[in-house]
Amino acid sequence: MIFSPLSPLLRHAGIAKLTSDTLLRMDPETAHRATIAALRLGLAPVQQEPDAPELRTSLCGLDLSNPVGMAAGFDKNAEVPKPLAQVGFGMVEIGTVTPRPQAGNEKPRLFRIGPAEGVVNRMGFNNEGHEAAFARLKGLRVPAALGVNIGANKDSADFVADYVQGVSRFADLADYLTVNISSPNTPGLRNLQADEALRRLLGEVLTARAKARTRVPVLLKIAPDLDEAGLDVIASVIAATDLDGLIVSNTTLSRDGVGGLENASETGGLSGRPLFDLSTRRLAQMRQRVGTLPIVGVGGIHSPQSAIAKIEAGADAIQLYSALVFGGFDLLDRIKRGLVAGIRARGGKSVADIRGTRTDDWAAGRGTI
Ligand code: FNR
Repeated sequence: MIFSPLSPLLRHAGIAKLTSDTLLRMDPETAHRATIAALRLGLAPVQQEPDAPELRTSLCGLDLSNPVGMAAGFDKNAEVPKPLAQVGFGMVEIGTVTPRPQAGNEKPRLFRIGPAEGVVNRMGFNNEGHEAAFARLKGLRVPAALGVNIGANKDSADFVADYVQGVSRFADLADYLTVNISSPNTPGLRNLQADEALRRLLGEVLTARAKARTRVPVLLKIAPDLDEAGLDVIASVIAATDLDGLIVSNTTLSRDGVGGLENASETGGLSGRPLFDLSTRRLAQMRQRVGTLPIVGVGGIHSPQSAIAKIEAGADAIQLYSALVFGGFDLLDRIKRGLVAGIRARGGKSVADIRGTRTDDWAAGRGTI
């Protein structure tokens, strides 16, 4: 297994020497850096055909040519949003960015669990800070919806103030903002998901948004490790706000499905295929609580079938990251073609026609793919 969508990229570019063997020997973070470098150099495949009409969808008022996005954490510093859009993602979420640059945790901090197609990371919001990302994004035209995922510095005296800074900095530049309070790798961050803390956070964030020139959609990204009472709290807090949507979910602290495998006991958040069932269940349970509020479904999407299942569970749009490590960018194309076929096979004409058709099954843990 390689930790990088690079292999297909390089195959495409005809750079034979650097394909799988070399990448297999690379440590995951080095392979990731190499992938970003390849994208920056224009070595990624560029989608030639427009997306099928069935894939066109709308999210929080944004028109997406397809509902499949690159999840946060891949392009933390906004180095490659345009090449990612050209590969064919309907949305690209950069970040998490924090106000000040920070180094993140000590290396190694990124691990593959090959046999399970899982990933564990404890990166710890390593990023170059708001100004670096802002400078790269200013004036850039990205042919996809551009999300900026904002967070807090680890040593911040006031986490909420860091999010407010993020909103003020990026509101006029992003197509949407994601308030990420669900990374397990910044101590205390997930406490913002609790009642009073969330009320204060969203109050201040949405007040900052109201002051910006543009009414940028704001989404809240939550953890899959919340229980149903935790989901109730979030649903009731957001009902009293004009938050635009949710992203469900971030990585999990649980190790279901990977016990005993190499790297499974590394500290950090688990993502990829082993996260699929849990994150999809939480998505469906959230869908039951928030009516038609837009939800982006993330977590363990690894095939066309799993992408369809995420939408049937209640997602308006989807994102992925870890599966690209194992499947390369070819997977994006397979997922999009599978979505079109799945929509047609179900007698539908658009993503919206299959959204939420199996929410109750997934919420009850009866969903299968
Ligand atoms: C992430 N993820 C993440 N999420 C986020 O909101 N901000 C971030 O900075 C990061 N960083 C990050 C780094 C790495 C190496 C991974 C694997 C993941 C979480 C990511 O966006 C997504 O929510 C989960 O990984 C679940 O989706 P997949 O990977 O199972 O498709």
